[in-house]
Amino acid sequence: MSGQRFEAVVPLADLPAGRMKSCVLEGREIVICHTPHGLFAVDNVCTHAYARLSEGRLRGTRVICPLHGASFDVRDGRVLGAPAERALAVHAVRLVGGVIEVAIEP
Ligand code: FES
Repeated sequence: MSGQRFEAVVPLADLPAGRMKSCVLEGREIVICHTPHGLFAVDNVCTHAYARLSEGRLRGTRVICPLHGASFDVRDGRVLGAPAERALAVHAVRLVGGVIEVAIEP
């Protein structure tokens, strides 16, 4: 459990509710989602083929892939809609002094 290393990504003020923000942390593409249930961070690359979820749509806590329409719950990464079958990796998020920080899960 120790060793989680959070990195500052973006001020909360720059990520309005209902929006997404992509970033690269430790070489990994991540998308931060500001939902009605809070902030969540998941891998940005769809597990079906290859598309960036940040270029799709965020509806509540559901992110929809722009390429073939798979959808995922950003709270736990699970698949909500085909054709994806594998869940997204989820990363820890915290808010420190108004700045969103993310820790990459190995
Ligand atoms: S790449 Fe996302 S649904 Fe196909």
